[in-house]
Amino acid sequence: MKKTITIFGGTGDLTFRKLLPAMYNMHVTGGEGAGYDIVIIGRRDYTSGEYRQIARDWVKQFSRLPFTEEKYKDFSEKIEYYRMDFSDPAAYEGLENYYKERGLSEHIFYFAVAPRFFSTIAEGLDGIHEAGKGKVILEKPFGEDLESAKELSRRLEEIFAPDRIYRIDHYLGKEMVRNMQIIRFTNPVFANNWNRDAVSCIQISAMEDVGVENRAGYYDTSGAMKDMVQNHLLQILSIVAMERPASFKGEDLHEEQLKVLKALRPASGETIRDMLVLGQYEGYREEKGVKPDSTTETYAALRLFVDNERWQDVPFYIRTGKKLGRREMEVAVIFRQTEENGENNVLLIKIQPMEGVYFQFNIKRPGESEEVIQTKMDFCQSCVVENRINTPEAYERLLGACMRGERSWFSQWDQIEAGWRYVSGMKRIYQEENLPIVTYAQGTSGPEAADQMLNTMGHSWFGQD
Ligand code: BG6
Repeated sequence: MKKTITIFGGTGDLTFRKLLPAMYNMHVTGGEGAGYDIVIIGRRDYTSGEYRQIARDWVKQFSRLPFTEEKYKDFSEKIEYYRMDFSDPAAYEGLENYYKERGLSEHIFYFAVAPRFFSTIAEGLDGIHEAGKGKVILEKPFGEDLESAKELSRRLEEIFAPDRIYRIDHYLGKEMVRNMQIIRFTNPVFANNWNRDAVSCIQISAMEDVGVENRAGYYDTSGAMKDMVQNHLLQILSIVAMERPASFKGEDLHEEQLKVLKALRPASGETIRDMLVLGQYEGYREEKGVKPDSTTETYAALRLFVDNERWQDVPFYIRTGKKLGRREMEVAVIFRQTEENGENNVLLIKIQPMEGVYFQFNIKRPGESEEVIQTKMDFCQSCVVENRINTPEAYERLLGACMRGERSWFSQWDQIEAGWRYVSGMKRIYQEENLPIVTYAQGTSGPEAADQMLNTMGHSWFGQD
C-alpha cells in the first residue's frame, strides 16, 4: 500500500507555485513527502506525461533547492494526473476505483480550490470507503463567510475525525513568524517590555507588489479582508499579543492566541471610520475576470485594540494590499519614547522577502557633539546562503508537519470562527455606514486615508513610506 497525497485543484497556481515545488524539495532532502505518491486532480485533458512536463517549468522556477533534470525525473514519476470534474458527485466512484487499482491508501487530501468547492469535495470523499481514515488539508479562506464556514466545519467533522482536519495558514510556516516567540520570550530585554507601559504601537504590514494575477475569479469574491486579514494577519497579531503559553505546542498555544482574538475591541458605527480603511487599486476593474463595477477591496488598513491588561489602548495597526510599491512583510514593535531628545526604539521583525531582525536605538553622535542620533543593529538571516538553503519553505514545513501528524501550527476552528466573526462584523458596519472604497494609484503605499488613521494617534507607518 502506498501513501498518497491527492491534490484537488492540480492545475491551479497554488499547486504549481507552492505545493509541487515543496514536494520536490522534500523529495530531494528525503523529507516526509519523499514517501508519498501524488495524484493530481484536474478537469483538463492531460496525460500524466503531459502534466509532468508542464509542472517541470514551475518546479524549476519555484523550488528552493537546485533543480536537476535527473532529480526531477525521479520525482515526477511519483506524479499521476487523474482527470475528473470534482464538482460532479458521480465522479468519486471512479476515483475510488482508481485508488484501489493502484493500491493507493493512507490518504492526504489537499483542497487547493476556491472555498465554494470545499463542501462538494468533502461530500464526494464521504462516499470513498478509505477516505475518512485519511487526513484533509484545507486552504484558506475556510468557507465563504461565518455561516458557510460553520456548516463546512460541522460536515467535515462528521466525515473526518476533528484531529484529521488540517486548516493551513501558510504564514504560520514562515521562518520569522516561527521565530517571533523566541525573540520575544527568550530575551528579557523584550519580554519585560512587551506591554502597554513600554510599547507605543505595533504595526503589521503585508505589502504586495503583485495584483490579482490570474486568480480574479476567487479574489473578486473575497477581497483583502477575507484573503489576508481574517487569517494570516490576525494569526500574526495573536502571536505577537498573546500571553506566554504553558508550552509552545498545540492546545496551549492555540488557547492563548484565541484569548487575544476574543479580546479584540468590537467596531461600532461611531468607531469604524477610525478603525478601517478599504481601498482598490486603479485599474483593478479592468483586470481579466473582475466585475467592471466591482467594489472588492484590494487594500485594507486597520487600527485594532486588544482589550486586556497588557495591551489596553495600545493600537495594533495592520495593513495589506496588492499592487503596492514593494513587497514587504514585517512586524514593527515601536517602543515609547521616554527621553525628549531620544527617538523611539523599534524592533522590526522582517518576514519577507528578506528575513531578519532590526533594532533601532539612540546613541551620541560621534565626536564633540552631544547630539542624540539613531542607529540600528540589523541582522539579515536570509543573507547567509547556508540559512537560505537549510530553511524549508512554509508549505514544505507544513506539509511535512501534517504528514507527521503535528498540529501545533495549523489554525484551529475556534480561531477561524473568531476571525470570521470579527472581520465580517467590521465589513458589515463599514458598508452600513456607506464608507468608501478609496482608489489608490499602483506602485504607491496605499490610500492616504490609511496614513491619516495613524496620524490622528500621533503615529506613522514605520519604514520607507
Ligand atoms: C495567499 C493569498 O494566502 O497569500 C494571496 O491568497 C497572497 O492573495 C498570498 O498573495 C501571499 O503569500 P506570500 O507567502 O507570498 O506572502
